[in-house]
Amino acid sequence: MKRRPLIAGNWKMHTTTVEARELATAIAVICAGLDDRDVLLSPPYTVLRDVAECVSRTGIIVAAQNVCWEEKGAYTGEISPIMVRAAGGSAAIVGHSERRQIFLETDELVNRRLTGALASGLMVILCIGETLAEREGGDTFAVLERQVRKGLAGIGGEAMVGVVIAYEPVWAIGTGKTASKEQAQEVHAFIRSLLAAIYGKNIADQTRILYGGSVKPANIDELMAQPDIDGALVGGAALDAQSFGRIITFR
Ligand code: PGA
Repeated sequence: MKRRPLIAGNWKMHTTTVEARELATAIAVICAGLDDRDVLLSPPYTVLRDVAECVSRTGIIVAAQNVCWEEKGAYTGEISPIMVRAAGGSAAIVGHSERRQIFLETDELVNRRLTGALASGLMVILCIGETLAEREGGDTFAVLERQVRKGLAGIGGEAMVGVVIAYEPVWAIGTGKTASKEQAQEVHAFIRSLLAAIYGKNIADQTRILYGGSVKPANIDELMAQPDIDGALVGGAALDAQSFGRIITFR
């Protein structure tokens, strides 16, 4: 089954307006003519509109780094799917490990975010991943299964076209320690078999599963060569147009 590759850049809490416009414009130039893969940029909320403007003549997808489940209301500090769309975005990341670990977001909260975003037509990247202690304790698969089942609770098979899963081992994020291609492939195959158990083989075969955690120009090619790795969610290396450009143009 051939799935369309997706390379996503998560800018986290980086870039002012000027920096964001410069980076997005440089990436748009690199992406010109690349029509066999999807590229997604996830900048801070404050520059969503700027980035959307800079990439408007490309197929680049613009995503929020998180999103609320409600359309509007008394939710100080949150933004809604409608606001994301009005700013030119068409996707959102939910459940990033930094949201889970630093801001204490639970599987239930992540599920509400995902459900609301899907309902308003956003594509959603659901991030999952085990900590080092969980891996060393032999709990990797149990943790991932819980995050997938609870994260996707109530989501029917037909809605899965809007879902991308990102496997990001917490111990590999921002640490320079990438999972080996074998470790990543093993987990991706596990996630796909879990999706098959929940939704059936067709949907499992169609769902893109990205790897994230210290992806860089030096390791993208071997990761993308794995049968169940359909793309990457890139943090640090996405902030430099040249290195992200090399990742986008993986061979
Ligand atoms: P990193 O971040 O590439 O800097 O490890 C990945 C992520 O957190 O999405």
